[in-house]
Amino acid sequence: MISFHIIILFNMVWTLDAFSIPNVNATFSKTPKPFELRVNQDFIDDTRQRVFSARSPIFIQTTYEGPTMENFTNVREHWVHEYNWTMVEESINERRQFTTIVEPTIGNNTSPIPLHFVHHRSPREDAIPLLFIHGWPGSFLEVSNIIDDLTHPPNKSVPAFHVVAPSIPGFGFSPAPQRPGFGPAHASHAFNELMQQLGYVRYVIQGGDFGGVILRFQAHFFPNNVVSALSNFWVIQPDQSDIRRLAEGLATPDETAYIATLETYINQASGYRILQETQPLTAAYAVSDSPLGFAMWIYGLMAEVVDPAIKVWTPEEIITWSMMYYIQGPYAGMRFYREVANDGALDGLDFGTLPLVEIPVAISQFPHDIAYRLPLDWARRGGNVVRRNVHDHGGHFAAYEVPNLLLWDIREWFGDREISGTKVFVDGFGKSH
Ligand SMILES: *[C@@H]1O[C@H](CO)[C@@H](O)[C@H](O)[C@H]1NC(C)=O
Ligand SMILES: *[C@@H]1O[C@H](CO)[C@@H](O)[C@H](O)[C@H]1NC(C)=O
Ligand SMILES: *[C@@H]1O[C@H](CO)[C@@H](O)[C@H](O)[C@H]1NC(C)=O
Ligand SMILES: *[C@@H]1O[C@H](CO)[C@@H](O)[C@H](O)[C@H]1NC(C)=O
Ligand SMILES: *[C@@H]1O[C@H](CO)[C@@H](O)[C@H](O)[C@H]1NC(C)=O
Repeated sequence: MISFHIIILFNMVWTLDAFSIPNVNATFSKTPKPFELRVNQDFIDDTRQRVFSARSPIFIQTTYEGPTMENFTNVREHWVHEYNWTMVEESINERRQFTTIVEPTIGNNTSPIPLHFVHHRSPREDAIPLLFIHGWPGSFLEVSNIIDDLTHPPNKSVPAFHVVAPSIPGFGFSPAPQRPGFGPAHASHAFNELMQQLGYVRYVIQGGDFGGVILRFQAHFFPNNVVSALSNFWVIQPDQSDIRRLAEGLATPDETAYIATLETYINQASGYRILQETQPLTAAYAVSDSPLGFAMWIYGLMAEVVDPAIKVWTPEEIITWSMMYYIQGPYAGMRFYREVANDGALDGLDFGTLPLVEIPVAISQFPHDIAYRLPLDWARRGGNVVRRNVHDHGGHFAAYEVPNLLLWDIREWFGDREISGTKVFVDGFGKSH
């Protein structure tokens, strides 16, 4: 009997140990525990050394092929001579972060999923619980420029929110899934379970990029928990008849513009995605070994999908955004695309068909995003889209890049308590009837 107990104990310890993150001081248990980021100093020093000794390609003067040599040099110089990880870490730790383990039941299986998340509660008794979901090549840091305004609005006539911003497993400081199969559908189960664990039986969701994909699964699977959603990445692939109408000159201005933006992305900027979707490991060998190479890998996309009149990425931001992958190793984040495709959200070069969303949804569109001016009637092929906000500036990372525009949309949509359904949040502390 004694040895039997020892074996059980050993197994438990081994299982908990399995939930860790390379180079990070993080532990995970079955209830939320405060988390402060501490990255191993040897790793930070080794990373800087690799940046210092990075070799550059020999530059061929040509049309745009990726980040410029000037970019490579600027980021390298900053990383080697200026970048102070301790300071970055202190600023990340200004957010209240937690770790936990959730145990969603998916199909017939219940398996533990360790998560890292930011959780800021509003002092307002009528605050609405809001799940904010980031995307690629971002992280939970995307919530930074709106979170305080969401929890502390200027007055009672503006809705307040309790904000939960998790890291998708494999991104930031949520450990990478240990087995294939964890895509946006599984993430939606994990995040719904997280909201339940925090006592937010019902809640709303805001998301772009993968966040916009996950929210569609989550709204579909959990219509009794997700009251409504606001997506700044609601993509509908045009069908054969849409393309035919365009060729025959019958498409509306919105339809024409939408197809053009989507085609530009697919033809000119989606190479990274096809590689990450099909052979993420091939690319991961190279960029795991080269922090500067990985920073350039994501900066190429970051630079193309923002409004250049508003957003100029600083070397500091490029490095910190890449560190949100590089610290635990970029492979899991990169290969999430493969799971997104397996779950049907991508279909070769095209976007796939996602499950129908029946709860009310608003969509926000920004001109420098990879898709813009999706018509409302096309949007409704994906679900119950009742409002469409078309902005004239901003891009893909709206929460980070044009926080005031997205904030306005969030407040207007979820503040419309009848149509968005948020009238259910009435008895205080984010609890719903
Ligand atoms: C890990 O972090 C905790 C507090 O967040 C601290 O008490 C502990 O000493 C840290 N361990 C290491 C190895 O840095
Ligand atoms: C990257 O290069 C472009 C074009 O030369 C320039 O406009 C931009 O400021 C550069 N960014 C960085 C961080 O070096
Ligand atoms: C880095 O930042 C920390 C915290 O702000 C500070 O104490 C330290 O002196 C800085 N290091 C350098 C080399 O500037
Ligand atoms: C769950 O188990 C039942 C009974 O064994 C089986 O009929 C069903 O197909 C399983 N569902 C899934 C999603 O695997
Ligand atoms: C509340 O704040 C909003 C946003 O700043 C402002 O537009 C509105 O006029 C304010 N309302 C009151 C009653 O002060």
